[in-house]
Amino acid sequence: MKRTKIKAVLDMAASPGEVFVQGWVRTKRDAKDFSFIELNDGSCLANIQVIAGKGLPKYGQVEKLTTGSAAGVTGQLAASPGKGQKWEIQATTVDVISIAPETYPLQKKRHTDEFLRSIAHLRPRTNKYGAAFRIRSRMAQAIHTFYLDKGFHYLHSPLITGSDCEGAGEMFRVTALDPADVQKQGKMDFSRDFFGQEANLTVSGQLSAEMFALALGDVYTFSPTFRAENSNTRRHAAEFWMLEPEMAFCDLEGDMDHAEELVKYLVSYAMEHCKEDLDLFMRFVDKTLGQQLETLISKPFARLSYTDAVEILKKCGKTFEYPVEYGIDLQSEHERFLAEEHFKRPVFLTDYPRQIKPFYMRMNDDGQTVAAMDLLVPGIGELIGGSQREERLNVLDARMDEIGLDKDPYWWYLDSRRFGTVPHAGFGMGFERFLMMITGISNIRDVIAFPRTPGSIDF
Ligand code: 4AD
Ligand code: MG
Repeated sequence: MKRTKIKAVLDMAASPGEVFVQGWVRTKRDAKDFSFIELNDGSCLANIQVIAGKGLPKYGQVEKLTTGSAAGVTGQLAASPGKGQKWEIQATTVDVISIAPETYPLQKKRHTDEFLRSIAHLRPRTNKYGAAFRIRSRMAQAIHTFYLDKGFHYLHSPLITGSDCEGAGEMFRVTALDPADVQKQGKMDFSRDFFGQEANLTVSGQLSAEMFALALGDVYTFSPTFRAENSNTRRHAAEFWMLEPEMAFCDLEGDMDHAEELVKYLVSYAMEHCKEDLDLFMRFVDKTLGQQLETLISKPFARLSYTDAVEILKKCGKTFEYPVEYGIDLQSEHERFLAEEHFKRPVFLTDYPRQIKPFYMRMNDDGQTVAAMDLLVPGIGELIGGSQREERLNVLDARMDEIGLDKDPYWWYLDSRRFGTVPHAGFGMGFERFLMMITGISNIRDVIAFPRTPGSIDF
């Protein structure tokens, strides 16, 4: 008989008679004449209850089933008298696939997130992490659906690059040089390296995306990005996924409109398609989550300039760990105050001083600020960072000189401003931060299968 996934079984409108399922035992309870087995196969949050009677051919085996063991069950799908479940399986055969010994770490009790991080290879077997990673999978697909419907083209930008998009120098080096050789030479001679020059893991696919937006119109990249910033915080990872749309003939307003539409679409999508899994987070992780997601969908995001935001922060009467002054890079505490306490909804900050933003952002008429936008959201702080790009060759040239950037490696980027340059804009959304926002999970390590953070690369 063909295996049916438990989700499909639980969704059945009428019993087909016999079904065959396979999965892992979450719990087993023995009564006088029966065993009740809660079986889960990862297809959904819910388990199916299996009733295994003492008269079964291999009942001796059934008695040995422990939490974490694997089994296949054939039986009648029958309406369940138990509350909270529509169906149960009255087993006719139970085949034990493997028995997990009592040392299986996920016995039925609550475990801390810290403990579960230390067994990241097993944690997807818990309700919470199973739900988190099903949501992650579904949201990645939702991104593609959103862009397919909008006629965007999906670009695969390179992960190994020769340039630093953000100019922050927080890159992981890629080299094939032999460490013993380097020691002998007393230096890293990149001319003898694989690429004949320095190479890094990309921090952003933006520069590639710009080239393709200037050819295909609207594009997006969605891929891993890498940052060697030594920030051991709950919202930074060394390897994370970034979604980066880039749009030709688009200005900062259009960029923000697009970001707002995207976030609202994805949140609505999650509420519609990940209901059961999201419900777990609403009940057990953050009781205010449901309300917060409603607010995200229904209220327009606030928009104001960096300058106005600094005024609000200075006048708010709150003492921040890091004092607010015009010109500072806002810290997480400032971002969260604005989104959580002041506006109580997501807020776009625009027009930052040019000194704290990368070279590619478009200079405003005041000659001081650039057409940047950051989207700050409650619980997270910065979710999105983007800008209108500097499309004027002479202004871009001057800006790169001002920063002291070596222009040679960017010759191709500058070329795009020589040939058919047009206003264009885009942004990057940290996929993990988005997942934290919709699940209420407060540590980025818990929305990444095997997180990479400073000092930690287990699994
Ligand atoms: O603001 P960032 O640095 O912007 C860029 O990289 C632009 N090139 C994007 C663009 O315009 N195409 O990063 C974008 C987003 C941040 O808002 C944040 O959500 C996320 O990426 N992010 C991180 N997420 C997890 N861990 C880190 N270390 C992150 N650094 C940035
Ligand atoms: Mg940023």
